[in-house]
Amino acid sequence: MEIKTDFLVLGSGIAGLFFAIHAAELGTVAIVTKKEKAESNTNYAQGGIASVIAQDDTYDSHIEDTMKAGAYLCHRDSVEALVKEGPHQIEELIDIGVAFTRKGTALDLGKEGGHSMHRIVHAADLTGKEVERALLARAAEHPNITMYENHVAIDLITEHHLFGTDKKHYNTTHCWGAYVLDAEENVVKTFLATTTMLATGGAGQVYLHTTNPTIATGDGVAMAHRAGAKIANMEFIQFHPTTLFNSGSPSFLISEAVRGFGAILRNADGEDFMKRYHPMASLAPRDIVARAIDAELKRSGDDFVTLDLSHLDAPAVREHFPNIYQRCLRHSIDITKDPVPVVPAAHYSCGGVVTDLNGQTTISGLYACGEVSMTGVHGANRLASNSLLEALVFASRAAVHVREFREKIVPIPSIGPWDDSGTINSDEWVLVAHDRREIQQIMWDYVGIVRSNIRLERALRRVELIQKEVRDFYIRTKVTEGLIELRNIACVADLIIRSGLLRKESRGLHYNTDFPATDDAHWLKDTVID
Ligand code: FAD
Ligand code: SIN
Repeated sequence: MEIKTDFLVLGSGIAGLFFAIHAAELGTVAIVTKKEKAESNTNYAQGGIASVIAQDDTYDSHIEDTMKAGAYLCHRDSVEALVKEGPHQIEELIDIGVAFTRKGTALDLGKEGGHSMHRIVHAADLTGKEVERALLARAAEHPNITMYENHVAIDLITEHHLFGTDKKHYNTTHCWGAYVLDAEENVVKTFLATTTMLATGGAGQVYLHTTNPTIATGDGVAMAHRAGAKIANMEFIQFHPTTLFNSGSPSFLISEAVRGFGAILRNADGEDFMKRYHPMASLAPRDIVARAIDAELKRSGDDFVTLDLSHLDAPAVREHFPNIYQRCLRHSIDITKDPVPVVPAAHYSCGGVVTDLNGQTTISGLYACGEVSMTGVHGANRLASNSLLEALVFASRAAVHVREFREKIVPIPSIGPWDDSGTINSDEWVLVAHDRREIQQIMWDYVGIVRSNIRLERALRRVELIQKEVRDFYIRTKVTEGLIELRNIACVADLIIRSGLLRKESRGLHYNTDFPATDDAHWLKDTVID
């Protein structure tokens, strides 16, 4: 089955939806999304969106906080665009119908790690859910937008998929859409588009413990890599310092906004240990807090550290964090009185598909925005609540760019249908489940918060072997969602490890005990895999 559209958007989180709403003014939009349409990292975002709103805040301050958190690997031009265009995008969200928390008539501004000012716009502690609700409602109203739920993109369509001699006419890689598995009907459909937007989100599921829901399997990065796009900075995986200990899978996040509100991290001796690690103590940037917790746990042999809110005004805590309060109560923890046991978990991928300031990837016709992309904004470590902001700013920039360059669009040539001749339905699904679990364990044990050359090399050898097995299985088996995800998880794990081995220093989120120092003379540059 073939579906033709002007814009194909892969993913229905904040990035995909925001782009789709803008692009729908120019032509038809098909949004392809893996599960139910709200299921995304966006839907679980808690803390909020960073933006210069307060009278006494400045662009320079937000820019400097972002650059500093990113260990100065951030691209200054991207950061300036992010920060300066932020307030306008917040206004647009409000126009679309997002109900942010207010203090009187003004927006209530929270504080998070690494920020020198209160600048986090939020909807209580369920910001993402509110943003997702409003964007989905706006998308549903638009006659040009069609949503395809339970549709899993398998691979991007490029000149490699052209029929016969047509291939010769293209000497650069161009994207005309994607092959997509309709998981309900069990058929692979060909989605053809003049412009494709990759907005498939993050890759937390590559790790055993993660805050990310099960959709976050790095599909976009893997698809783009297979199609030949540039990928960068994959070694910079952010571990959120505070997820509720033993809360299941995914790990339940205790927002950084809780520390912004005054909560203090303590070790088993009750010590405010972060004071020993950074002048900002519990509100230091995430890489520093996560590494400090890791060091405290290794030193003490404990399973967790605790967050202490007992000195804070209890009604105010309940009002600001109703979702976190309720969820912890289910674990018999009253956060206004009891110490909250927390551990770090994989949270965010700072690297991804390389784009320019307009969201264009190195493949023509293919854009990327949101967590799947590497716009240069985050450098070696993302500043808290800059992710939702990045998605808004760069989705909007991409929409402006496609409008300006409509006349340069490359028409869709004749594309071959999905070819699965010679493949069979397998009943060996235990292999898929086992390999997924094995990769997650390897990544957690060897490619986590603290790395070394021995661990990275050992991880690479094992992941290479699994990748080979997955490839063999893939070419003789009819695709399923599980197999598509496993293939992508294996690919992304490989990219993270290789990037980690390439960087011969420690910077931001990448800490290697064999190269503990930061080496600005040689390594103040992105790790690019072509
Ligand atoms: P997502 O929102 O993850 O959307 C990706 C979409 O792509 C989904 O619809 C998914 O189903 C779809 N998809 C994936 N693969 C395929 C495929 N193969 N085929 C079809 N569809 C596919 N950031 C902040 O700035 N502030 C916060 O307060 C904050 N809190 C967070 C709390 C949690 C618990 C988590 C997990 C993240 C948080 N983040 C926060 C990070 C932020 O939520 C994400 O980086 C951001 O939402 C990513 O948006 P996105 O649109 O790029 O991806
Ligand atoms: C949080 O609420 O702590 C998450 C914020 C983020 O990931 O930016």
